[in-house]
Amino acid sequence: MTIILGLESSCDETAAALVTADGRILAHRLATQEEAHRPYGGVVPEIAARAHVEALTPLVEAALADAGMTLDQVDVIAATAGPGLIGGVMVGLVTGKALAHAAGKPLVAVNHLEGHALSPRLADPSLRFPYMLLLVSGGHCQILHVRGPGDYARLATTIDDAAGEAFDKTAKLLDLGYPGGPLVEKAAAQGNAKAVPLPRPLVGTNEPHFSFAGLKSAVMRAVQSGQYATEDIAASFQQAVIDCLVDRTRRALAQGDSVTALVVAGGVAANQPIRAALESLAAAHNLPFVAPPLWLCTDNAAMIAWAGAERHAAGLVDDLTVPARPRWPLDPAAEKARGAGVKA
Ligand code: KG4
Ligand code: ZN
Repeated sequence: MTIILGLESSCDETAAALVTADGRILAHRLATQEEAHRPYGGVVPEIAARAHVEALTPLVEAALADAGMTLDQVDVIAATAGPGLIGGVMVGLVTGKALAHAAGKPLVAVNHLEGHALSPRLADPSLRFPYMLLLVSGGHCQILHVRGPGDYARLATTIDDAAGEAFDKTAKLLDLGYPGGPLVEKAAAQGNAKAVPLPRPLVGTNEPHFSFAGLKSAVMRAVQSGQYATEDIAASFQQAVIDCLVDRTRRALAQGDSVTALVVAGGVAANQPIRAALESLAAAHNLPFVAPPLWLCTDNAAMIAWAGAERHAAGLVDDLTVPARPRWPLDPAAEKARGAGVKA
């Protein structure tokens, strides 16, 4: 059985995992940099890159020890090659190249977004292509028609902020702390989602995309007004995001692409009310709903190893000249969304 070592270092988690080609997770080690970035309320790229350098090799050794293996027994090395903070991406990719070269194993350069996109198949081996994927993370908010490894049609993206970014900024405005998503979810559970009138940008329009910048500004005005409780703002904000995600996904499903399931992935997919709303949407379309377990939604190396397994099985391997890429769209043919100059 083919065994894949996966490396992840594109943002603020350093991780190494060993996964088999039939989807067994033999080991997973992860070091989060949350504490290092907390004083700044966001990820500081230079601090992140240095922390990846220190953490990655020990994590690889620990993962191999957990699985009772040596590097010689690994068949494929898969490393995130982008998109992400370039310093961190380079740490993981160069480490992957060095290991592949030293051990004489093939290298698979994995698009981090493809890691998220294929992770539901690691969690649920019965999930078949093609499926409709809502990919919601700190840097991305996209709807993809997933047809196979390396084969994606991007149906929607954000024209400004990503959904996770909106959660993080709302947490900052509400002084909830860092990282923001889980803290907003926790506060929202105690609040009234109807208390604060907030916009649902682009909902109901013919435009396929997402927008969260106007929502963020409205949250800022609500905070500054001093009229509302923190929990009520959090709950109203979260509901507005849910309404946007559901409406845009419904529109994508209505386009008529054949799909086997509605799938959600990425860090924001850890949010329970968001999962519940998407589950109802899937049920209304008579589609199975698939969401990876929470630990597989946020950044990890098992999804990178798994994407490496899928690409390797499809004959997609890379040579040691493959570059690290700060931007790397999954669907290079997709047109730029209006105003979306900086999003992949
Ligand atoms: O996929 P991910 O771990 O990293 C990126 O590739 O971006 O996603 C991180 C994002 C952050 O913005 C974080 O606030 C958000 O996912 N997130 C959540 C929750 N857990 C993480 N957002 C809403 N509710 C959550 N429970
Ligand atoms: Zn991610």
